[in-house]
Amino acid sequence: MDTLASYDELPYDSLPLPETQPDFLAAVAKLHGFDSPDPSRARILELGCAQGGNLIPLAWRWPESDCVGVELSRVQAEAGAAFIKRLGLPNVCIVHGDLAALPDDLGTFDYIIAHGVFSWVPPAVQRALLEVCRRHLSPQGVAYVSFNVAAGWTALQPLREALLARTAGVAPAPQRYAAARAVLDQLSREWDDPALLDEIAYLKTAAPSYLFHEYLTDCNAPMPFGEFAAQLDTHGLRYVGEAGPRRAVVELEDAWGLIPESMAERWLDAERALDDTFATRFRRALIARADAPCAQPPQPDALSELAFYADLACDEELDLEHDSEQGFVNPAGNTFIVADVLAKAALIALSSVYPRALNYPDLIAAIHALRDEFGVTGDVDAACFKHAWFSLVSSHCVMSTLPGQTATAAADEPGSHPHAHALARLQAATPGWVVSGMRHVAIDLDAPARALLQWLDGSRDQSALIEAMQAYLAASNIVLSPEHLAQRIDQQLWQLVRQGVCIDAGK
Ligand SMILES: C[S@@+](CC[C@H](N)C(=O)[O-])C[C@H]1O[C@@H](n2cnc3c(N)ncnc32)[C@H](O)[C@@H]1O
Repeated sequence: MDTLASYDELPYDSLPLPETQPDFLAAVAKLHGFDSPDPSRARILELGCAQGGNLIPLAWRWPESDCVGVELSRVQAEAGAAFIKRLGLPNVCIVHGDLAALPDDLGTFDYIIAHGVFSWVPPAVQRALLEVCRRHLSPQGVAYVSFNVAAGWTALQPLREALLARTAGVAPAPQRYAAARAVLDQLSREWDDPALLDEIAYLKTAAPSYLFHEYLTDCNAPMPFGEFAAQLDTHGLRYVGEAGPRRAVVELEDAWGLIPESMAERWLDAERALDDTFATRFRRALIARADAPCAQPPQPDALSELAFYADLACDEELDLEHDSEQGFVNPAGNTFIVADVLAKAALIALSSVYPRALNYPDLIAAIHALRDEFGVTGDVDAACFKHAWFSLVSSHCVMSTLPGQTATAAADEPGSHPHAHALARLQAATPGWVVSGMRHVAIDLDAPARALLQWLDGSRDQSALIEAMQAYLAASNIVLSPEHLAQRIDQQLWQLVRQGVCIDAGK
């Protein structure tokens, strides 16, 4: 096959995916007792990488890494290759080709990423994908393969079947999407199942490419976790753990607190049971070679070897004296309820240094400094904290990384002549690309903010930026006072600083 028409016609929104960051994968692996290679010098392969919205920022962040993307849709692969050329980034390439026909001499990779691919390709390509992992994973390497899980998808199948049947024969992809939108309206009048109505409401707001490629594509084959784990087995691979957020974790211990190999089967059974309990729809599986060290449920004791970052706000007065429940909200609008006093202090400490990370000892020191600042006295329960922290890490309220993986050139303030790095400026200037923050998140920017970002090459001071913005808005007949503009620009610059997009050119 030369290309994939549906993705050429309706390209996938190619976004940075925080859970695919190799330093995050290394941290998850460490919680499972597994040391994966140094992410900053890793060889990274992304299968089905679309136009590289995920891979290119990873390559940018780690100039000593070597990144290869493979993408079958010619339109997407060529868009990615053109972007890399304009950026002049030497350590990444996107190859137009079929992941099922990779050349043998590609070498080995420390991290292999396949997000949103496995469930959306025919069984032969699924097998080929796992074969790529078996053949090309370095001895300590880890692969990330996400897939749709049958436990949660079974209830949604009537919706997929109705959308497929009622839009059958409509082509090309954008027209079929438009037809499906109309069908969603019909179904919301005809159906009364609350779960399906919720999904319909969500689909009306979701990206067109999401609706199309989940509900209208020929391939979307959700799989039970057990079947996925068994397939890994037949390909000489093993399940290491879950890179997605978890609401519950499996803990298995024998009388000596060890997790022998013989318990692995029980652990996989427990994972299966979790999917049934929570109607899991999507998994992000971390995978290693079968001969890799024993995989096991994640171990809270390994937290002390990690570093953490978080971007949260607590919208009520912080209570650092009592284990009272308080809500912490992340930029995506997810609320995490936290009661442990030390964990609350830790979240505040991390949010105050975001996008930087703190390693475990520094985090503990920051908690104590904050308690001193608030005049909090009394005993602390370190065991309770570790337990609470483990569940915050599992739920992705807090993201983990390895110590020493933070980029240092990020500026602490906009400075007199704000300077954003070249990747962010090119992302802002290129339609169809989102701007990614240092922590691999998509930054929500409106059109004027994208224009502003393009001007941040270190040559303009505040008044030059105000002038440029006045001219930009005047083209749309918008007039704002210089004071108002100065305030808006200042806010925007601080947002970019917080996301690690502005650099301190002096460093
Ligand atoms: C659902 S999209 C996910 C894109 C991207 N990984 C993401 O998560 O944003 C699936 C991607 O896999 C690509 N793909 C499908 N079959 C492929 C194959 N045999 N070889 C390479 N890429 C393939 C598609 O063209 C598409 O870009």
